[in-house]
Amino acid sequence: MAKPVTVYVCSACGAQTRQFFGRCSGCGSWNTLVEQLQAAGAATDARRRRPVSVEPRAQPRARRSEPIQTVGERPLQRLASGYGELDRVLGGGLVPGSLVLLGGDPGIGKSTLLLQSARAMAGRASVLYVSAEESAQQVKLRWRRLARMEEADGDAEPAAAGAGAAGDFQLLAETDLELVLQELEALRPAVAIIDSIQALHDAELASAPGSVAQVRECAAALARIAKRQDTALLLVGHVTKEGMLAGPKVLEHLVDAVLTFEGDRFASHRLLRAVKNRFGATHELGVFEMRDRGLAEVSNPSELFLGGSEPSSGTATIVACEGTRPLVVELQALVSTTSYASPRRSATGIAVNRLHQILAVLEKHLGLPLSRFDCYLAVAGGLEVEEPAADLGVAAAVVASYRDLTLPPGTVLVGELGLGGQLRPVGQLELRLQEAARLGFTRAVVPRGTGLAKAAAGLGLQLHEAGTVAEAMVAALGVNPADDRA
Ligand code: TYD
Ligand code: MG
Repeated sequence: MAKPVTVYVCSACGAQTRQFFGRCSGCGSWNTLVEQLQAAGAATDARRRRPVSVEPRAQPRARRSEPIQTVGERPLQRLASGYGELDRVLGGGLVPGSLVLLGGDPGIGKSTLLLQSARAMAGRASVLYVSAEESAQQVKLRWRRLARMEEADGDAEPAAAGAGAAGDFQLLAETDLELVLQELEALRPAVAIIDSIQALHDAELASAPGSVAQVRECAAALARIAKRQDTALLLVGHVTKEGMLAGPKVLEHLVDAVLTFEGDRFASHRLLRAVKNRFGATHELGVFEMRDRGLAEVSNPSELFLGGSEPSSGTATIVACEGTRPLVVELQALVSTTSYASPRRSATGIAVNRLHQILAVLEKHLGLPLSRFDCYLAVAGGLEVEEPAADLGVAAAVVASYRDLTLPPGTVLVGELGLGGQLRPVGQLELRLQEAARLGFTRAVVPRGTGLAKAAAGLGLQLHEAGTVAEAMVAALGVNPADDRA
């Protein structure tokens, strides 16, 4: 067989060269040349160049499109992954023939999650696990370790149901794409797991495993077979230094769902999110905890993000929403006199720009001289809160720390802060209040006009509605923080 010819294609302008350059000679962009097999490109070019008029018009060819009314609807037969938390993020389970990319930092627990899930699924469907990073021996060791968890607390783990026996689980430790494809065609499994896509290697490409060209070719070849034989394909992808999934845009448009697995390396909980999902909602959150014998599901995540400590000055509790999932989260602020020319501001778990903005609003509308103070803010439990609904909680934590006040116990705050100091309504408020009430909170400070006073009373929550941040602070702290201006 002749060696296939590869070309370098600029991902910005599409110019092709035979040789690799750091800079595209067509558009001048740096580092945009990506190696590609020429065969595929040449074929499409030839097709495109064929003159349209040569097509014989006399014989009508068979119709390939059809009216949408007659398109058959096949109900999605989802396969339960064995984990409620994973199913929730997938939108209700794994869809046959779908392509799912699971991204995350190395060591976060991607292999553990998928191996555990594969164990659970193997009792009900055929599973092929391709380990391109670890040897078969290593996977077996992990398998044993996970089995011990199921033995230890079998009935506590719903995932363990039916997974005691190995079921139909095939393991292949291989990095050569060709052999993986052959195995996939021979076994035609219901589920195939590729751990990881970066470690697979297409011998026809000269570039190194893990390069954009390799990742793209390997994923595309696997996807073609998987779609054809209705295999659900789970690809593991590492996050690169730049924080993107390697071969970032290339893989994201190819797959049906992109899940990210994240967490603090110093904390045991792990968060699973859907960034893209063709078969379900995005922004759903799954919560796991890494134990010494594998990942356990956390069905009450709010308890994880509550500090659990005695109320102290500078702490405030908010109810954040991840997808349809409310999470009660504790915020801590520390405000202290600065010894720098420009005060220090640092935020963990919240965008620092958001903190700057809230400090400016407090300075302007409450008259607090915060520009002379350092301000540190942290979200307990290592969670990232992106929602503006956290604003009011941040403001309360900052003001409480500045005035050395403790918020009355059992208080939660929800609300977005406008630049004019007004409170803006937030979505899913009732859901948030329900979660707060479930965890024993008794007071909630929220934006005005919710119409939820009755519902809150039914939940045992005292509802304080406020129109501005100043009103909200008075409601939350019981005193006017602007009273004796420093
Ligand atoms: P791993 O699944 O290998 O991560 P990834 O595939 O994302 O690179 O898991 C990595 C870490 O998890 C590893 O440092 C050990 C830890 N771990 C546990 O704490 N308990 C366990 O039962 C297992 C299997 C792993
Ligand atoms: Mg791994």
